[in-house]
Amino acid sequence: MTAPDAFATLARARTSVRGFTDQLVPDDMLRELLVSARLAPSGANLQPGSFIQVRGAVREGLSQAMSAAYRDGSAEAEDYSYFPDPMPGHLRRRQVAAARALYDSIGIAREDRGGRDQQFERNFRFFDAPVALVVTIERGLGSGSFMDLGMALYGLLLAAQSRGLASCAIGALASYPGLVRAHLGLGPEAHIVCGVALGYADADAPVNRTRTSRVDLDAFFRVVG
Ligand SMILES: Cc1cc2nc3c(=O)[nH]c(=O)nc-3n(C[C@H](O)[C@H](O)[C@H](O)COP(=O)(O)O)c2cc1C
Repeated sequence: MTAPDAFATLARARTSVRGFTDQLVPDDMLRELLVSARLAPSGANLQPGSFIQVRGAVREGLSQAMSAAYRDGSAEAEDYSYFPDPMPGHLRRRQVAAARALYDSIGIAREDRGGRDQQFERNFRFFDAPVALVVTIERGLGSGSFMDLGMALYGLLLAAQSRGLASCAIGALASYPGLVRAHLGLGPEAHIVCGVALGYADADAPVNRTRTSRVDLDAFFRVVG
């Protein structure tokens, strides 16, 4: 019998959680998670990017400002481009499936624009998680550094999972880089990558029943030669 695969077990258990209890995350635990995340490899060991915890009045002010901007429909130029425009058909189908999984979990129909907007706005409140993080990267770094930072980000999500915490990365924050910088007192050299919500999952929150699938191995792995 093969030994239990600790990594696969952890990776399977992690899902994006968008409903949290009020239980606080001890500061020491958060710091340990971040130290673990920083063990991620990076090209030339550059270790790009920063994680900034946002608390108290700063968090409230930022959330209010982003929610208001979202409701007003005001747009900012993003610091980096996440998605291709237009989205190729096969990726669009995956995007739609993920959105459907989320909205189905809370009973929001596809044509219910108001309901979807309301859920989307929760991004800007970090889903009311006890820990709100903003992830930044130094301006001017290349695609390789985004890859490095992504590995650290996944490390953080898995480290959190291993300690019984739940998480959701929040790319929606990248829509308002100017607001984020202004509220956090950051200069233009800090590019806004995403947010992260961390805390203990609310087992009763329907949104946490969201489950996504993955493409088969054959769709992303092949052997040549
Ligand atoms: C960098 C990044 C940004 C994301 N941004 C958002 C977001 O803004 N809002 C959201 O609800 N989920 C967001 N997600 C969660 C994805 O939708 C989710 O990871 C994907 O659908 C797969 O589902 P799973 O995490 O439950 O396995 C983000 C995930 C990543 C890695």
